[in-house]
Amino acid sequence: MEFSCSVSSFFDLGTEAVVLFCEKGEQSTGEIMGKIDLLTDGTISEMYQSGEFVGSLGSEIMLRRVPEMAAGRVILAGVGKKDKITMDVYRRVAGRIGKLARRHKLKTVSFYYDGPETNPVSSAIVEGFALGSYRFLDYKTDEDAGKDEIELLSVVVPQKGKLRQAEAGLARGGIISDAVTHCRDLVGTPGNDLYPESFAKHAQTLAKTFNFDCKVLNPSEIKKENMGALIAVGKGSEKTPRFVILKYNGGKPNAKPVVLIGKGITFDAGGISLKPGLNMGEMKGDMTGAAVVLMTLVTAARLQAKVNLVALMPLAENMPAGNATRPGDIVTSRAGHTIEVINTDAEGRLILADALDYANTFDPQAVIDIATLTGAAVYILGYEGAPFIGTNQKLNDNLRTAADRTGERIWELPLWDEFCDLMKSPIADLKNSAGKTAGTLAAAGFLKKFTGDWPWAHIDIAYCDVEPKGRPYIPVGPTGIGVRLLVDLVTNWKKV
Ligand code: BES
Ligand code: MN
Ligand code: ZN
Repeated sequence: MEFSCSVSSFFDLGTEAVVLFCEKGEQSTGEIMGKIDLLTDGTISEMYQSGEFVGSLGSEIMLRRVPEMAAGRVILAGVGKKDKITMDVYRRVAGRIGKLARRHKLKTVSFYYDGPETNPVSSAIVEGFALGSYRFLDYKTDEDAGKDEIELLSVVVPQKGKLRQAEAGLARGGIISDAVTHCRDLVGTPGNDLYPESFAKHAQTLAKTFNFDCKVLNPSEIKKENMGALIAVGKGSEKTPRFVILKYNGGKPNAKPVVLIGKGITFDAGGISLKPGLNMGEMKGDMTGAAVVLMTLVTAARLQAKVNLVALMPLAENMPAGNATRPGDIVTSRAGHTIEVINTDAEGRLILADALDYANTFDPQAVIDIATLTGAAVYILGYEGAPFIGTNQKLNDNLRTAADRTGERIWELPLWDEFCDLMKSPIADLKNSAGKTAGTLAAAGFLKKFTGDWPWAHIDIAYCDVEPKGRPYIPVGPTGIGVRLLVDLVTNWKKV
């Protein structure tokens, strides 16, 4: 899909459809609405009076062949009450229009916008439209698949003075939605094609394209780093682990880096503590965190963010096998702590433990990890948001601000000492699983032992990584949750 910007009057637009945002009201207002009303013999007033269309958020009406209009269709898109309009409203509305455009097989669509904050609104329109109309077709071989691809999305402003703002927003929105759709593609790619080695290669290709550093540790280098926990998780698979280190330096040369860590289990069968068969295939998405931090680095590089970043991707496949780690085994992590493996399905915390410890080598300013870590997370916030734990008020506030701006919701949970104590083993330093209660916080309590005295935040995106029902700009399937959040955080980075 191509994105473009232009200056034009509403009535001269030549795309197949033109979208006009309509605020909720008793009657149609505005010059353009008034003119459409005239041209259509009062259709608009009629709809407002009957209540058929009054501009409510989530409602839309398509008019065809309005006289004197170059475009074949006008889509009136309700944005709701004026005082409730946020950037996420524009994303949601644009997401709905993206789906509608697909249903009607439209190839070219323009959004006409004549309001405040042209730059962020343009970005939101592009994000919503591109993400809402997203489909994953990599594995479809029938000839028709992809034929009805939408070709052009344009944002149109009435005055020349607003063009530059619109262009800047459009460019940013395009880069951000590319990152999210790419992340969704990676999550959708099955384990037979995306495994530690191929994922690491993919990271290298992206790093080359977008000009940042990428180093991949192979199994013998991982061993030299004493990453015993990562090795233990990957042991049962023929696809050996990798550890990817990405670096982007956009900040001052001496500024400490922000380190991002993403869980990269390319398939989680549970290991010897095998998962039940139902929906096990979804565990191909257990590398979402790693894809998120990878795409965050790509985006930071493309947007030339003024911050120094490191991203760590511990990659492994968690499989049962004759040589797999057993429940009861005791392994030694990079930090030197011994861990009793109670449950081989609690593997995410093991690979994150080695990555958190490795983060120390960068003398980080702050460390943020993101992981599909515990199924229990869905009992806390459902699919509505991701729980997070943070040790620094400023970092927490910055994350919450990014969440509010992007609509990728997160909510803080307390990390009381008791959750850390839960993870003590009678025979080793730690155990990787402890009973059924507070699973999300127990996992965080485990991770805490591997953190330094730097500000740390941990985001658990289990279940939020895959959307079950479909939302305006999040179709059923991989969501790419975390990309927009972390991109917003690092591109607006504030010292903590
Ligand atoms: N990858 C899973 C968590 C998960 C579950 C993510 C469902 C997305 C959807 C993780 O490795 C896991 O298996 N966690 C266990 C931990 C338990 C054994 C302590 C869980 O949550 O059941
Ligand atoms: Mn698991
Ligand atoms: Zn897992």
